[in-house]
Amino acid sequence: MFTKACDLNELREGKYEVVAVNRTLMVVVWPQGDQPRAFQGLCPHFKEPLADARFDGKNLTCSHHDWAFEGATGACIKGKPCTLAEYPLKIEGEEVLIDTDGVTPVFVG
Ligand code: FES
Repeated sequence: MFTKACDLNELREGKYEVVAVNRTLMVVVWPQGDQPRAFQGLCPHFKEPLADARFDGKNLTCSHHDWAFEGATGACIKGKPCTLAEYPLKIEGEEVLIDTDGVTPVFVG
């Protein structure tokens, strides 16, 4: 079921935000020239939070051991082969809605 995660005006193209939906921590990444996407909020490596990751507008880099993920796909581009679990996200009016059902975070550490 889609649940409100945040207001659209809390997001900025080229930035990311941390949100919690149904007690699930996630990051909403908005790559430049793309659209907002919601990914698992814990790093697939050692389950450290991606809340303090660095985002350069294209790639998200975990601050703990520098694994890096493509913001447009969640694919790991530095670290073990894996892809961040993505949650369905839709925008209705000024609200950002995310569906957490059936999505399981990926861990490969
Ligand atoms: S916990 Fe993210 S790179 Fe190690």
